[in-house]
Amino acid sequence: MKRLIISAALIGTMATVAFANGDESILARQAAMKAVGAAAKAGDFAAMNTAALVAQEAFKVDTTEDGFAPTEARPEIWANMDAFNSLMNDLVTKSGAADKSVFGSCKACHADYRLKN
Ligand code: HEC
Repeated sequence: MKRLIISAALIGTMATVAFANGDESILARQAAMKAVGAAAKAGDFAAMNTAALVAQEAFKVDTTEDGFAPTEARPEIWANMDAFNSLMNDLVTKSGAADKSVFGSCKACHADYRLKN
């Protein structure tokens, strides 16, 4: 419960402060994804879940038009937001449940929505 409160506060802060423009949300989602990757390597599902919640928030900003920071995110994300969100929800719920099948969602999403796999 404590962890939930902390991550909710983190997301609240990031949503209002960090995502003032596309570049900031690009950097925020990449940092969050990096943290997801590090947590995956460490087998730390709780940390993965916290980072996934931040990524979920950061990807809500459509950076197709105004993103200048280099990004590996495909514009298809914002053209297929429902499908993307459903993969993102998998990441959030399965990491939250410490379910090892979460690793399938990494590949599934990267294959369609990330330039480099
Ligand atoms: C719902 C889609 C989605 C899921 C699920 C997902 N990723 Fe990603 N990931 C992306 C996208 C899109 C990028 C590129 C972001 C960018 O460059 O702006 C990315 C980037 C990354 C990066 C590179 C970050 C950087 O810029 O250095 C790592 C590492 C990564 N993901 C690991 C993972 C791991 C590990 C999992 C599963 C536990 C996972 N991702 C699940 C969409 C996803």
